[in-house]
Amino acid sequence: MEQYVIKGGRPLEGEVTIAGAKNAALGILAAAVMTDQEVTIENVPNVRDTRVLLQAIQGIGARVRYIDEHTVAICGGTINPNTDLCVDEYIRKIRASYYLLGALLGKYNHSQVALPGGCDIGARPIDLHIKGFEALGAHVDIANGMISVEADELIGSHIYMDVISVGATINVMMAAVMANGKTTIENAAKEPHIVDVANFLNSMGANIKGAGTDVIRIRGVKSLHGTTYSIIPDQIEAGTFMVAAAATRGNVLIKNVIPKHLEATTAKLEEIGCEVEEFDDAVRVRAPHVLHRTHVKTLPYPGYPTDMQPQMAVTLALSNGTSIITESIFENRFKYVAELSRMGAHIRVEGNTAILDGVETFTGANVAAPDLRAGAALVIAALVANDFSTVCDIKYIQRGYEKFDEKLRGLGALIEKVETDKEIQKFKLKVG
Ligand code: UD1
Repeated sequence: MEQYVIKGGRPLEGEVTIAGAKNAALGILAAAVMTDQEVTIENVPNVRDTRVLLQAIQGIGARVRYIDEHTVAICGGTINPNTDLCVDEYIRKIRASYYLLGALLGKYNHSQVALPGGCDIGARPIDLHIKGFEALGAHVDIANGMISVEADELIGSHIYMDVISVGATINVMMAAVMANGKTTIENAAKEPHIVDVANFLNSMGANIKGAGTDVIRIRGVKSLHGTTYSIIPDQIEAGTFMVAAAATRGNVLIKNVIPKHLEATTAKLEEIGCEVEEFDDAVRVRAPHVLHRTHVKTLPYPGYPTDMQPQMAVTLALSNGTSIITESIFENRFKYVAELSRMGAHIRVEGNTAILDGVETFTGANVAAPDLRAGAALVIAALVANDFSTVCDIKYIQRGYEKFDEKLRGLGALIEKVETDKEIQKFKLKVG
């Protein structure tokens, strides 16, 4: 089984380049099948989630062609709507396959997808997706682990999201793009990837206004056409490297980012004593030896992202004083705490709050990644820890980070991907 072996204790130093945004890519790749013409998408991160979604897209009959590692051409014209619109096995691998539900419903007025799984970070209902599809006139049926949506005709509607949801906003937006008339989505999510998916759909001929605000207005169009589109940089990958620089007391220039999208992380790093310098498309994080406590509460964008919560927890667990983290998006996002405690962190969880008493450093341990972002956080912890650590279950990390170990090595980290005990011993002998 693949795992990372890490020798901690070195500050990260140097430059790292950020890939395209995974969560934007998942919406955009699904939306690409909504035209029969070919669509070219650039800056696609080469991570497991996008590769699996592309397999799912092929599985429904679309043509997928890699032009290079990060550029993909998709043609939805080969899909047969009478036989192909059932997404089953792939949804068990990645939850975001459910974007095909909205995309195919919007294009063909019907689709069928297995009920989603995904990272185990708490109950992840899809009631808002269903409510939105129904408001557009679709009939939704759940049976035998499958969800089927079908409409004679999709009709523009007024939809109020009871909870701010990234997934429901994107799914309903896609379904509404070719509906008859106007749709308004109120209390919409405002994440940068919502804007990216909307910009992509507009470049295909859709008429979406207001993405990035909490009211999105969509005027239905008859059809969509081919386009070439480049995905925005990944704010969570960028944030992860920013926080890794802080935790290891390093100095890292993080390139190919949109600094505006990183403001919540920047603000917290400055609060604890880091220096964050912003450039047009890069940020530099410099950390002094001593960092200070703070409070973090996860919120929908532009608030502090839940996907950056475990990584920040590692840094706060190494900062002077008592910090408090409140997780208000998902209920099960402190599963890394047990693993981090084994490395010497002092963290107590009470409901949706973690109380962290800062310690000087961590000690190496063998830990397991419980999910994608927590996995990245444990790698950061291991980069700080005295001595050797291993992080197993890195399949979660590979879902969302492209060449994570390689990028960290580029910053001076002692980390290697290994499969056997023999390889671990070899690494230990090599780095001493
Ligand atoms: C997306 C991101 C994920 C991120 C999350 C929050 C993708 C592929 N994934 O996940 O990385 O952690 O946003 O920023 O973009 N909810 C409902 N009913 C629904 C849908 C959601 O009650 O129908 C609730 C959820 O339980 C959660 C909250 O809404 O408490 C936010 O979830 P949502 O924004 O939908 O997350 P995802 O789209 O699944």
